[in-house]
Amino acid sequence: MRVVILENAEAVAEFAALQFIHQVSGKPDSVLGLATGSTPLGTYGKLIKAHREGRISFRRVCTFNLDEYLGLSPDHSQSYHRFMRESLFDHIDISSGNTHVPRGDVNDIEKEIEEYERAIEAAGGIDLQLLGIGTDGHIAFNEPGSSLASRTRVKTLTRRTREDNARFFGSLDEVPKMALTMGIGTILESRSILLLACGEGKADAIQKTVEGPITSLVPGSALQLHSRVTIAVDIKAASKLSQLEYYADCERNRTELGKV
Ligand code: GLP
Repeated sequence: MRVVILENAEAVAEFAALQFIHQVSGKPDSVLGLATGSTPLGTYGKLIKAHREGRISFRRVCTFNLDEYLGLSPDHSQSYHRFMRESLFDHIDISSGNTHVPRGDVNDIEKEIEEYERAIEAAGGIDLQLLGIGTDGHIAFNEPGSSLASRTRVKTLTRRTREDNARFFGSLDEVPKMALTMGIGTILESRSILLLACGEGKADAIQKTVEGPITSLVPGSALQLHSRVTIAVDIKAASKLSQLEYYADCERNRTELGKV
């Protein structure tokens, strides 16, 4: 795992945006896996700016989002469809037909799940998957206890996740109890993965993800099984890591080798 420790959230966003710019300039028809939550917002802001400056074009890019709340229509103010449109898609040159977010409001949810997995496959698989992390170590909506081989499916959200996300809704009661989410197995099939975390509240989850044993109780720890994962965190989210000096050494050596 590559662990990149940066000064603050702004530097994390800058780093993440550069990874996407690098990916898309090398492969203009990249398949990008996108995430929601407050953490990727800075990255999306930087990508919009880079697009306006002519440093990245999404014309041939195709995207797949990780998850959606069950029961919310794409126009609901807290749906991840709406989040993605408002935070990124409406501000870049991506064709809406190339963006995919699972639908949480369809009658035949099993069909939606099957089609979503099939669409990822038909697109050739995800080149670069962006992830945030929940305070309990969840990735996408794969809550603790999720099978490390899980595929896209419906998951029940933990009370902690619903409480964490209640800030976006009027009250805890309004937060959906279930969500449709890519599975851990689905995520691990991405060619490369970039996980971002900022703030003290994520320090525990990051320590367990990077240095803890691989366990379904910390879904992020499954990333240790992948050969191309970058964890980009600010100092606060890195504060509980035990090998801080070593990670900094690795980064210095990478720079010497001229790697991005
Ligand atoms: C939700 C999303 C996750 C995200 C997490 C953390 O649960 N499904 O993909 O990583 O929130 O969100 P935030 O970045 O707001 O802390």
